Parts: sequence; C-alpha cells; structure tokens
Amino acid sequence: MARTKRVGILTAGGDSPGLNAAIRGFGKAAIGVHGMELLGFRDGFRGLAEDHCIKLDSRALAGILTVGGTILGTSRDKPHRMPIDGKVIDATDRIVDTYKKHKLDAVVCIGGNGTAKNAQRLVDAGLNIVMLPKTIDGDVAETDATIGFATALTIATEAIDRLHSTAHSHHRIILAEVMGHRAGWLTLEAGIAGGADVILIPEIPYRIESVVGAIKRRTESGTNFSIIAVAEGARDIHADKHYRSLEKRRRNITRGIERDALDHEIASLDADHTGHSLRLAQKLESLTGLETRVSILGYVQRGGTPHPIDRVLGARLGNAGADLVARGEFGVMVAAAGDQTRSVPLELVASRLNTVPLDHPLVATARNVGTCLGD
Ligand code: F6P
Repeated sequence: MARTKRVGILTAGGDSPGLNAAIRGFGKAAIGVHGMELLGFRDGFRGLAEDHCIKLDSRALAGILTVGGTILGTSRDKPHRMPIDGKVIDATDRIVDTYKKHKLDAVVCIGGNGTAKNAQRLVDAGLNIVMLPKTIDGDVAETDATIGFATALTIATEAIDRLHSTAHSHHRIILAEVMGHRAGWLTLEAGIAGGADVILIPEIPYRIESVVGAIKRRTESGTNFSIIAVAEGARDIHADKHYRSLEKRRRNITRGIERDALDHEIASLDADHTGHSLRLAQKLESLTGLETRVSILGYVQRGGTPHPIDRVLGARLGNAGADLVARGEFGVMVAAAGDQTRSVPLELVASRLNTVPLDHPLVATARNVGTCLGD
C-alpha cells in the first residue's frame, strides 16, 4: 500500500485577505480527497527553519474561510538570510533537515514575488515545492489573479469614493496613497473604479507640471476639488531616473559592501513613500492654491474579511495545488488562467515582476475617460 503523503504548508510575505481560504482549499482537498497529512508551518520560512509547526486536520481548517490574515502567521524572512538567535544565517540546511525530519513529500508556499524567489531557492536545495500566488499588489508574473487583490481593490475604491465627498465639500485636493511599491495595478484599478482625476503609478514617472495642469483645468471649468490616487512607489521623473540608475547598478553587483550599500539605499527610497506623498501634497498646495490633504490607506487595504472573489480564488488555487502534489508535479506555481488553472515553472515567476505595461488597455481606458496619469 502506498505511504500516506505528508505535506507542509506556509504563508510568507505580507498578509493578504483570502490566505485562510487558500489554506482551507488546499487542506480540505489534500486531506479529504487525496488522503494526505498536513502540517502548517508558522510565520513563513522561519517555521521551517525553526521547526515550528502544527498539525492541520479538518477541525483546524473549520471556520477559517471568512477570516482575514493567516492562521499560520507570516514573515518576510528569507531562507538564505535569516536572523536566528541574534545572528543572520543561511538557514537552508536547517530547512532541509526539518523537511526530512517530518518525512515531507512537499511544501506548499503561499506568497508573492519574494516567496517565489525563496521557494525557488528551496527547489534548488532539492525540496518539492508548489506555490500559490497571493499579493494585494497583483504583481506576480504568469498568473491572471493573485489572492487578496480583489479585497484590496474593493477597500481602496470605497476609500476613494468617500474621499470624494469630503474633497468636494472643502474644495480640496486629496491624495489617496494606495499600496504598491513597484506595481501600480491596485492604484490604477481603484483610481479608475473610484473616478480619480489623477492616477500616479510607479510605471509612469510623473511631471508635477502635468498634475498641476490637470488640476488647474478642473478649476477653470468650475470644479475646485480633485482626487489623486497615488501608488506608494510613484516617483517624479527626476527621482525615477535616480532610482532606475541604482537598480541598474545593483543588477551588475551580486555581493559585497557596494551591493549592501545599494540594497540599503534602494530600501530606504522604498520606505520613503509616506514622505513622498506628503511632499507632493505640499508642492501641489503651493502650486495650485488649493488646500491639499493626504489619506494613507495603508494596512486597512490588507486587513479584514476577504471579498468573495478572493475566497473563491483561494479555494480553487488551493484545490489545484492539492492535485499537483497528488500527481507529484513540483517546482511550479499554480496560476489562475481565465476560469482554469495551470502550472508554471517557479523560475519563470521568480525572475519577473508583473508591472503595468504602458500599452495596457487599462492605461488607455484611464486616459480616455480624461484621467491625468502625470506624464
Ligand atoms: O504585500 C505587499 C505590500 O502590501 C506592499 O504594497 C507594501 O508596500 C508592503 O506590502 C508593505 O508591507 P510591510 O510593511 O508589511 O512590509
């Protein structure tokens, strides 16, 4: 008789509404349909490195479908650079030991771009891995959808709707800062859905004169308020040039002090998004004469009850993941492809970021409804 398959599951990176639906979707199919045993590892890859896990049976999977966050906890810890006991170590061997100790047949990693890279490292170390895509940023390559995006889009759109009435009443400009460091999907879609007057995304470096021009045209036509949906990673053309040159240099340097310095500089620019929105607001106020405010949507976009779309997506990607493990197909991500799923080699996902192409129909749609994109 064939041995019962034992599978680990973890959630890594920023949390995303619908993670529990995916854990449940995978777990119910793995246990109920394929007769597997399931172990949930805590706090992303750290749980594997520290052998911190719980048994997930049908009871543990009950009642979690509608719950936000992740019952397993999450972290941004990387297998090859993990702070443990006050030291940053390469924890890959420890992870392999945990895998062997529990006689695992596979580990399912639910995560975004960082997770894809980390999961690929574990594939290279000889582990059987299946990934499910989640991120509110919608920037995982090779999949039509990621778990969490629909919920975040709903929240960001509602926020923009609400900002409209207060901006209108006070004749103000309000900037709604939407999550997304490198990809503008969430800002673009929420901006279109909420009827933002200006949408600024990382893929389209903006000119302040262009934004001011759009606001002044509104004022001249008798509308003295404006809503700007701004991605946290949006940059003006000067800052963008600097950022891209740093990234270019980093691509050519793989390790050493210079690489660490570049990593540090890029990370601090990434972390400066709040400062950026506030500075942009100040400039707009002085250039347009309109009072300007900033509303940072922040973690509200990631928290709380998942939208039905994310529950269904989590369930179906989880189910497809269980089928892959049962078939022994590893080193892949389960991608959403229309109403189907397909498996994509992890290395294709790990090496690319799904940013907004400049010729994407949504970009044209925004322009054609009169939205300024800052260029
Ligand atoms: O999960 C992606 C994301 O939501 C980004 O949009 C955001 O910049 C980032 O996570 C911030 O998350 P944290 O502060 O948890 O690292």
